[in-house]
Amino acid sequence: MAILLNDANTLFTLQTNHMMYQMKKDRYGVLLHTCFGKRGSVFDYSYLITYADRGFSGNPYDAGDERTYSLDALPQEYPTYGNGDYRSPALKVFYPDGSFSCELKFLSFKIKKGKYSLPGLPALYAGENTNADTLIITLEDTRHLFYVHLYYGVLEELDIITRAVCIENHSNDCIYLKNVQSACVDYLHGSFDLHTFYGRHVKERTYQRTPIVHGLQSVGSTRGTSSHQYNPFLILSDRETTEDSGNCYGFSFLYSGDFSGIAEHDQYNQTRILLGIHPDNFTWALNPGCCFWAPEVAMAYSDSGLGSLSRIYHKAFRENLCRGKWKSERRPVLLNSWEGVYFDFNGDKLIEMAKNAAELGVELFVMDDGWFGKRDLDISGLGDWAVNEEKLGCSLSRVSDRIHDLGMQFGIWFEPEGINEDSDLYRTHPDWAIQIPGKPPCRSRYQLLLDFSREDVRNYIFEHICRVLDSAQIEYLKWDLNRSISDIYSAALPPDRQGEAAHRYVLGVYDMLEKLNKRYPDMLIEGCSGGGGRFDAGMLYYTPQIWCSDDTDAIERLSIQYGTSFGYPVSTMGSHVSKCPNEQTGRITPLQTRAVTAMSGTFGYELDPAEMNAYDKEAVKAQIRQFKKYYDLIQYGNYYRLTNPDTAESWHGWQFAAEDGSEALLCAVALQIHPNGPGCWLKLKGLNSGSSYLVEGKEYPGDVLMNAGLLIPPAKLEYESIQMYITEK
Ligand code: DGJ
Repeated sequence: MAILLNDANTLFTLQTNHMMYQMKKDRYGVLLHTCFGKRGSVFDYSYLITYADRGFSGNPYDAGDERTYSLDALPQEYPTYGNGDYRSPALKVFYPDGSFSCELKFLSFKIKKGKYSLPGLPALYAGENTNADTLIITLEDTRHLFYVHLYYGVLEELDIITRAVCIENHSNDCIYLKNVQSACVDYLHGSFDLHTFYGRHVKERTYQRTPIVHGLQSVGSTRGTSSHQYNPFLILSDRETTEDSGNCYGFSFLYSGDFSGIAEHDQYNQTRILLGIHPDNFTWALNPGCCFWAPEVAMAYSDSGLGSLSRIYHKAFRENLCRGKWKSERRPVLLNSWEGVYFDFNGDKLIEMAKNAAELGVELFVMDDGWFGKRDLDISGLGDWAVNEEKLGCSLSRVSDRIHDLGMQFGIWFEPEGINEDSDLYRTHPDWAIQIPGKPPCRSRYQLLLDFSREDVRNYIFEHICRVLDSAQIEYLKWDLNRSISDIYSAALPPDRQGEAAHRYVLGVYDMLEKLNKRYPDMLIEGCSGGGGRFDAGMLYYTPQIWCSDDTDAIERLSIQYGTSFGYPVSTMGSHVSKCPNEQTGRITPLQTRAVTAMSGTFGYELDPAEMNAYDKEAVKAQIRQFKKYYDLIQYGNYYRLTNPDTAESWHGWQFAAEDGSEALLCAVALQIHPNGPGCWLKLKGLNSGSSYLVEGKEYPGDVLMNAGLLIPPAKLEYESIQMYITEK
């Protein structure tokens, strides 16, 4: 059992193979947080807490004359607003009388075998690869209006502890939830760095590491999606932690909407981490008898550096978050029409592209934006999910049949949440678009968004998408979204519930994705939001891969995929070889380098093969063979970052290794070229030190490859790349 109790049932110790997490009900019924870190002796770690007379930090009434008891200084499991703890709270509630000071006390607990799931929300699940237990601790509001159920899922072999929160109103009044964070962890001491992932459209998840200093450091999104700008994944580490050594703690939010991630370093040098729904666009009216569920956070810990923390998430997300057939089946190598032809195609052009692609060994042809309604540019047509047979020159099933006749599968693009004002749908149902009555809406890419918080709107779109999907043989769907939400408002909600619209929107997206998955269990669904604007663990529950970025430049992609790799496995990163010079940057890179980069993802092409010369076509055939050969190693092997592309001096390297160390694949791209330049030595990882390995016909001891490394000679060509297979002898 991974959940241990003391005799008095006041100390809760959660253990995974390498991690420990502990809470304690104290003498006043406050749930303290007492430990999160390396698994060790089961002991009451509350002895570490300092009790001192803290000026201006206040003492709860219950503590009587005990001036050394102050919530402002105590490590708490679920701190509340207005109750003498002046740090950022996990919970803020407006009571029926208008007050908002909240006090929670321990009420009860339950332990259940297996991992909990959450209604309408993504959650990790236990498979055959891990034991799982659930602990539910119930806190009660001291004014007896509601319960706070804290959920903990302990996934032992995965080394993950998940958290989620359910608030249950058992009073006769409505209460208003203003801020419900999903996870809070208080560290008593330590000098930490915060690792976050920032960016913008076409430059997502750039890795950033900063020391935590006094005050608040935060990332977040109020864009209605998790966003290109910040990712809902945080790492806290010791200052000296490196890729391969030291303590680090991961917090991944399984949610695709507004989020807030906060690190607060306080007056006593304590650090609080909070992760949950961003409170700015959120107020939830909780009626008597109702529950509110705050989404899940997956927490992980490693004492051996950032690389091993990432690999914990890679395994858990690949095996215990992604679902369905495509979690373990080899995914087809695809060609997407977007950068090849954009909106400028007809049925014959698509078939010509598919025919050329089939000859190269591509297995799936994806028809991107432009096949429906009046959609020859991005200014019109969104919402009208009817095939434009005039543009295609035939029915969709005819296109699909012709593609299948080439021995390929067929896929299709949708943007279910989008609507152009120039569309039949908007002309019929303007109130279905998100906008505030009487206020001109903020447009983005000439479009608005549909109110996915409404079931009637979702049902309509679902039905029309299904009509298209049922009209032809379609094996793949790309679900795109091309703007952030603004003017958040739902015509279907009363004024006092408008604060629910943003979260209800996300629940609506999940609801429809769940229905799609149920109805088309064999269909591969790829998420996308103008590239990686909704690349988060929440989406991965519904779509096992997500288009990583609209930036297809291989060199830019190194940094985007590097940042993404901290929290997400390569099997989830949509990555394609595109044409040269690159459409976004004009950069010229060798075809081989574009392939090496795209192979460290789901791998596909996004160009018009008719524009390729015979030499390149042969190279593409070889790349596809190569990818299939190394598929298992790349998709299911352990991933190692060898260098950081933003600071690498010459070559940037990364590597895959089989779990048992029997084989590996080294990939590297020359980022800088200098005449008469220095060499580069890449130290391999994940091999067996006592074994011998063959590298390009030469034999090396495993420990030599890992400790001394391999010499990568100075680059002779700008952006040249290598991909080296290494096998145990
Ligand atoms: C944005 C996506 O990221 C692209 O791949 C493409 O599908 C376009 N939208 C189409 O409008």
